[in-house]
Amino acid sequence: MAGLEGKKVLLGISGGIAAYKVCELARLMVKSGADVKVVMTESAQKFVTALTFRTLTGNPVATTMWADPSSPYPHISLSEEADIIVVAPATANLIAKMANGIADDLLSTTLLAARGTVLVAPAMNTRMYLHQATVSNIARIREMGVAVVDACEGGLACGDEGAGRMAEPADILTAVGREVERSSLLEGRTVLVTGGPTREYIDPVRFISNPSTGMMSHAVAQAAARRGAGVVLISGPTGLTPPHGVDVVDVVSAAEMRDAVLERLRGSDVLVMAAAVADYRPARPSSSKMKKSEGVPTLELEPTVDILKEVSGRKGSRLLVGFAAETDDVLENARRKLGEKGLDLIVANKVGEPGSGFGTTTDLAAIIKRGGGEQALEMMTKSELADRLLDAVADLLLKGRDPRPRPGH
Ligand code: CTP
Repeated sequence: MAGLEGKKVLLGISGGIAAYKVCELARLMVKSGADVKVVMTESAQKFVTALTFRTLTGNPVATTMWADPSSPYPHISLSEEADIIVVAPATANLIAKMANGIADDLLSTTLLAARGTVLVAPAMNTRMYLHQATVSNIARIREMGVAVVDACEGGLACGDEGAGRMAEPADILTAVGREVERSSLLEGRTVLVTGGPTREYIDPVRFISNPSTGMMSHAVAQAAARRGAGVVLISGPTGLTPPHGVDVVDVVSAAEMRDAVLERLRGSDVLVMAAAVADYRPARPSSSKMKKSEGVPTLELEPTVDILKEVSGRKGSRLLVGFAAETDDVLENARRKLGEKGLDLIVANKVGEPGSGFGTTTDLAAIIKRGGGEQALEMMTKSELADRLLDAVADLLLKGRDPRPRPGH
């Protein structure tokens, strides 16, 4: 199987009957050239023995934090040395632990210590899979950058029919290969991402802004980091915790964002402008608080600088990616902005539709390329949209730009 030759895979197995199918997954991984190490939870060992996996992988199987006095930090070493951690089957309990940072055995502790690529294949009874708690835990781990191979519909061990059956080992293997390949797609590249709203102050206690939460930019930054890129996130005020491994530059106004972008542009290969930059700002902000007793003010506004337009004048060979958040004529408006702002890619994003736009975890969007090529997407999480976008970015970098002229390096 392509992509796993010489790769180190850490296979985490939690306690579900689908553990028996993971014997086949381990065999397929070994056959495709991977060096597979296994961590089993206590309940996993009730379904399949550690000896089975030791025999299949040729490596000792780790089951506890406390087994080897010469290795007091097995959770750190196991997570650090792996090119990818694959959890199959991932039970509802294990996913809940991942979503909440609970570390009470070797597998959950290793997952909390992990900083690289993690892929999980859930498997459980339909009622547990569709329970609101599991649905939101899976959404949460996706937001954290974990890749999820959705469970499928079918007959379950308990006799029920429905969603919750673990994906087939061959399909999990394909997903593992894709994630491993992805993890180095942007190695050596620097991606600049902007996000969140900007604030344009009227006086020290009032400002004009917009409802952007910064979730999309965080998803883009995380997706770029997962592909091995160096990532700088220039963010307006969001209150979000920055993704791991991403350098964050905090800004407030459109003018500050412009300065921060221009300052870091030189070393970057890609600029993704996901920020909702204010188009206007008060022409004469007051330096002291305006008082009600002075009457209702009339605000005179002036345009802010269009950052993308300014950057396109000094684009060099770097890729420029914009977002168009639109209520009407979404594709037409996005195509026009792609041309006017000299972009390579634009994400046309529907605002005002339930589940899409500002403050939602999902989006209804399309990715449009310069020179044609449009990918209309179904409603998907912002993390999935970020994945599609970064795949398109990596594709353009690889296809169009070899041998690679490096912008301003
Ligand atoms: N953008 C920018 N600088 C601005 C305004 C927007 O760089 N001052 C970027 C955004 O980050 C986004 C793209 O331009 O990637 C499109 O932004 P959008 O607000 O949809 O479009 P505008 O150009 O502001 O046009 P309009 O408000 O008329 O739709």
